[in-house]
Amino acid sequence: MFGLEKIASKIEIPPEGVGADLAIPCFREDPEATAEKIRALKNPLFREVVVKGRYVNVSFDCAVLAPLVLAEVAAKKDAYGWNDSGGGKKVMIEYSAPNIAKPMHMGHARNNAIGHALVNLYRANGYEVITTNHYGDWGMSLAKIMLAYGKWGNRAEFDKDPVRHLLGLYVRMTKESADNPALEDEARALFRKLEGGDRGLHATWQEFRDVSVANFERMYGLLGISFDVKNGESFYTEFIPRAIEEALAKGAAHYGEAAEGGEGKPVAVNLDAWKLPSFLLQKSDGASLYGARDIAVVKWRLEHYDVEKIVYVVGHEQELYLKQIFKTMGLMGYPEEKLAHVSYGMVTQGGKKISTRTGNIVFLEDGFEDAIARAKGIKEVGIGAIIYNMLSMGREHDIAFSWDAAMSVQGNSAPYIQYAYVRAKAILEKADAPAPLPAPYTHPVLEREAALLKLVAHFPGVVWQAHALEAPHLIATFLNAFAQEFNRFYASVPVLEDGEGRDLRLALVAASAQVIKNGLWLLGIAVPERM
Ligand code: ARG
Repeated sequence: MFGLEKIASKIEIPPEGVGADLAIPCFREDPEATAEKIRALKNPLFREVVVKGRYVNVSFDCAVLAPLVLAEVAAKKDAYGWNDSGGGKKVMIEYSAPNIAKPMHMGHARNNAIGHALVNLYRANGYEVITTNHYGDWGMSLAKIMLAYGKWGNRAEFDKDPVRHLLGLYVRMTKESADNPALEDEARALFRKLEGGDRGLHATWQEFRDVSVANFERMYGLLGISFDVKNGESFYTEFIPRAIEEALAKGAAHYGEAAEGGEGKPVAVNLDAWKLPSFLLQKSDGASLYGARDIAVVKWRLEHYDVEKIVYVVGHEQELYLKQIFKTMGLMGYPEEKLAHVSYGMVTQGGKKISTRTGNIVFLEDGFEDAIARAKGIKEVGIGAIIYNMLSMGREHDIAFSWDAAMSVQGNSAPYIQYAYVRAKAILEKADAPAPLPAPYTHPVLEREAALLKLVAHFPGVVWQAHALEAPHLIATFLNAFAQEFNRFYASVPVLEDGEGRDLRLALVAASAQVIKNGLWLLGIAVPERM
């Protein structure tokens, strides 16, 4: 026998053909006994509780549901669907993390979209979120671009469009250094000089960083995102030696063999016991490596913020690397279970992998401009189209960005969903606010009204689930189905016609607009006033 909590945890929403609103699978329990327990609740919302095979099916009474749900939407407004299951717990979410001196491209749109949606989902589920960026503003790749600028840079072109000019230099450097390994050595020497505090190099570095950040900020402005912590990798450099010392002291890392003829010893982390590749924190010449920085980063974050969890929104190609970092933190005595990787698949465009190295990219800036033009100048629609396209598939999948899909008016796109919103708003403008419904509602609820009403009622559950699974696409999929149902309702029911059902219909339209607005907000998409 199982109690009510156990029943609650098994509730499913059955497929449409079943003709019920909830279903409770009873494969190990007696369905009749379960049905009796549910009937004994005497919940006025449950019109019918019946056993069908191994399932208990529950149907709602719309006369009870309608006044209840529609009053809640009207009262909660922009907070309809939210819950406080997070209990105010603090989480830190790292996302975006673009590299300095390289442009943001359409691939970054996916990271930004997933990161922003997660931030909103955590907040909507009652968490306090601290957002952090993590600019790639240090290291060899940047040194190579600085070297290229010194060799082939052109001030006038840099001033005209710095990020584009630097990309050209990076592509050229990648090509030339493939045939000429001496360039690698030169870049290494430059980086050492920069690390040593060379003033001229530091000024160039600062300038590259400033122009890049200004460009990123423009993109963030269009996306409506901002970060509480804006440190880049360079910020953490000074904490690396202490982090390496600590890793050694705690036995998480150890000295390796000195290279033949060399003096210094490398510092390594051995992860064989966890079936993970071992890796170096420090080379024998004393230079620290990328992983050492990330360890210093985790330490800094945990020391400065009392957070329950740190979420890393990073592409799936860095999954193994982050596992190594998280495990190392565990070996150092830090709460490894607080570190989580939210990964996602690659974005292709025009059938090709986006690659900064070869220059095969579409600048995010150009993508946004193009999108807004395609949306006839309506910013929310253009930007929203890109964001939705990046979120509509489960994040683990690779996706092919397509303008046709992103801008589609047929469905599964931001414009399609936004259009339903604009339609709903247009109806509401033509009518006075509906009177509150009597409870229970006495007029019959039509089939299309009931279907839409149940989706409105279902929205808070989707918000909960999308957070629990860190799956923004569940919101996207729900909104698409919602807009579809709204359009069916709109086509089959004369909303503004006088008569007894008018208040219900108007309240449903108002609730629909609210659900679409709240759902799109979760995805980081704004609603337009007109289309
Ligand atoms: N900047 C890196 C990149 O573009 C991502 C940084 C991921 N975050 C981290 N803490 N390592 O690939």
